[in-house]
Amino acid sequence: MLLGVNVDHVATIRQARGGIEPDPVMAATLAILGGTDGITVHLREDRRHIQDRDLKMLKEFVPVELNLEMAATKEMIGIATKLKPDLVTLVPEKREELTTEGGLDVTSHKRNIRDAIKKIHDVGIPVSLFVNPDFEAITLSKQIGTDMVEIHTGIYANAKGKEQEKELTRIINAVGHALDTGLAVNAGHGLNYFNVTKIASIQGIRGLYIGHSIVSKAVLVGMERAVREMKELIKEATR
Ligand code: PXP
Repeated sequence: MLLGVNVDHVATIRQARGGIEPDPVMAATLAILGGTDGITVHLREDRRHIQDRDLKMLKEFVPVELNLEMAATKEMIGIATKLKPDLVTLVPEKREELTTEGGLDVTSHKRNIRDAIKKIHDVGIPVSLFVNPDFEAITLSKQIGTDMVEIHTGIYANAKGKEQEKELTRIINAVGHALDTGLAVNAGHGLNYFNVTKIASIQGIRGLYIGHSIVSKAVLVGMERAVREMKELIKEATR
């Protein structure tokens, strides 16, 4: 099973000061050294974290799968077809949301999504649709020509106890249904060091796409060393 690391939130920290650090491109390099099979970035319409420059630089050097998450808009399709990442994952996008809140409403936006898939396919890029663990959305995704779906695990991730078990069963059934229709199946959103095992145990999943928990852990496991190095500099200067 593949792991795709989403480095958006390294860019979130950078954008908090509008400067140049931390650089998501450098973070991607380290994630690759750590053994990731892919790098994901979500270029949002409002550019709140990842910038066009990040995407261009990643395209130049990332030797593993570069997955571009984006809304199915004219602007984004233009960027994707020019840049040619290894995979495009279409996601719903609302300006006011903190993060992607749910899967695509494939039924209501069928024509728009189908046209987007076609334009992206025309330049030879495979497409994944981010969908809820819902049979109808998966069947429709296959009908409109996607290569893969990414099953939304956010509800599972936020639920507890019996509710979480119920959502896990929904995901297992959805993965089975997607495989039966002939789609490749990924999963992601909200996965962390405590809840990933049950999802990673589902047979047939191609890859997991994980961002926030990995960036969060990186901040904590790197803190001790970062402080030690700063203390060392101050000590040297005042010696
Ligand atoms: N997959 C998709 C389609 C997403 O939109 C996101 C969030 O950008 C992720 C996976 C990663 O989610 P998280 O940051 O919660 O791990």
